[in-house]
Amino acid sequence: MSIHIGAQPGEIAETVLLPGDPLRAKYVAENLLEDAQCYNEVRGMYGYTGTYKGKKVSIQGSGMGIPSISIYAHELIHEYQVKTLIRVGTCGCLQEEMELGSVLLAIGASSDSNTNNMVFNGLQYSPTADFTLLDKAYHTAEGMGMKVVVGNVLSTDLFYMDDPQRYHVWIDHNIVGIDMESSALYTLAARSNVQALSILTVSDNIITGQVSSSQDRQEKFMDMIKLALEI
Ligand code: HPA
Repeated sequence: MSIHIGAQPGEIAETVLLPGDPLRAKYVAENLLEDAQCYNEVRGMYGYTGTYKGKKVSIQGSGMGIPSISIYAHELIHEYQVKTLIRVGTCGCLQEEMELGSVLLAIGASSDSNTNNMVFNGLQYSPTADFTLLDKAYHTAEGMGMKVVVGNVLSTDLFYMDDPQRYHVWIDHNIVGIDMESSALYTLAARSNVQALSILTVSDNIITGQVSSSQDRQEKFMDMIKLALEI
């Protein structure tokens, strides 16, 4: 057991999918995995291990934001020897023409988080996806007839940004999506030499103000999960 995860050694697979919402972890485990067993209920942050097409895989809620995903990623890597971490979440979109429901593979993750300063002490670092995973996700999506966009995202600490002008510097540098976790996941994975990728569906467009309905979000989420499970 680690501080935030109640699993015994060996109960978590080497590959873990990380939705922000623990109820999504439960839903996927109950609907897409075989022989799924719940290994964590601490703080209601469900974690399950099962098999998909005969391969062992886990799915663990990560919570929202960099501090929360950092705790789960750290413990999965250091206490449970996880080697591949795939975030499956939603993102806002910073490009006017991008449709709700589009799937984004985050090649890089910029950030406004002060956690970067704590780690890099004023120096700049560019968190990136694992190339092998990214390449595999891109080609698997192609094979599934699923259109994906590969782009840079911003992982922000503020969901509610009072001043929308603050986004402009990111938009001007071709940032496509905005989430609250990917940069930390990539940074932690790089530091421990394990693989990470964020697969994100666009749930809202910050420029046009469009927001997906919960039914649309659920459908698109399932498409994205299937891609993550395939890779
Ligand atoms: N901002 C930050 N994170 C998000 C958003 C957003 O608009 N949508 C989904 N995750």
